[in-house]
Amino acid sequence: MNPKNILITGSGSGLGRAMAIRLAEEGYNIILNGRTESKLIETEKMLKKFHIDVLIKTGDVSDSNFVSSMISEIVTEKKELHAVINNAGIGGKGTSILDISEEDMQKLMDINFKGAWLVSKYAGKVMITQRNLKPLRGKIINVSSIAGLDPMPGIGIYSCSKAALIMLTKVLAKELAPSITVNAICPGYHVTPIYNNDPTLIQNFWNAINMKPLLRRVGTAEDVNGIISFLVSDDSNYMTGQIISICGGVVLH
Ligand SMILES: NC(=O)c1ccc[n+]([C@@H]2O[C@H](COP(=O)([O-])OP(=O)(O)OC[C@H]3O[C@@H](n4cnc5c(N)ncnc54)[C@H](OP(=O)(O)O)[C@@H]3O)[C@@H](O)[C@H]2O)c1
Repeated sequence: MNPKNILITGSGSGLGRAMAIRLAEEGYNIILNGRTESKLIETEKMLKKFHIDVLIKTGDVSDSNFVSSMISEIVTEKKELHAVINNAGIGGKGTSILDISEEDMQKLMDINFKGAWLVSKYAGKVMITQRNLKPLRGKIINVSSIAGLDPMPGIGIYSCSKAALIMLTKVLAKELAPSITVNAICPGYHVTPIYNNDPTLIQNFWNAINMKPLLRRVGTAEDVNGIISFLVSDDSNYMTGQIISICGGVVLH
């Protein structure tokens, strides 16, 4: 069993829920977060069979009061916070960069970028003091997107929010070294509620923007689990500031 405590934001569905199930199976204690309590309770039920500790923290990652309280409560209840996965996010609505409203732009940046920054800020302040944890005092993993690497027409501000998250990863990696590692993953097209769980919608989208995976299939939520398992484990201890695509080969580095 692995008694490390891992916070996964946006773990009431999709990739975050898949990560929670995988990491619970590996014996980590999981802290679930999202805005909808019923979805978190559903995830919690799925983790029951793994006999690990589960905490639910319901709230909005773009709200600094909530994030600051959530991190304090985690430390009070669990003593240590070993890793944070900044996975909470919302998708673009398929609007041109000229037509997207100011309100929609702000919401995308607030949740996808500011939310990850706030969680990293408050979690980072706690992790840096965890001197008893060796060799690292904590790990931060950001869930960006291939849309943060290559511009995606129709979801342009989503692309900008995910590109900002990539730069946040690099800045945090530099500022928090050598105590805390910070890496990001860039998923491609995975069947989750962000795409209405509809593989055809995804295929139409990649055809429309001419960005298809070399592996010629839509991803599952579970397709990101291997890299997440590696990034929270000690096997990735000599890795920081890295941006890893897990996208079936939509983008090539
Ligand atoms: N699916 C893909 O193909 C794909 C590709 C690239 C990147 N991603 C990224 O992967 C992450 C997970 O997405 P997904 O595909 O798994 O979609 P999803 O099922 O919609 O998951 C997103 C989760 O984030 C939560 N969330 C949204 N806003 C939040 C907020 N302000 N505070 C806290 N939680 C919030 C949502 O729950 P509530 O609404 O209940 O809060 C939801 O459970 C996102 O960051 C997304 O951009 C996904």
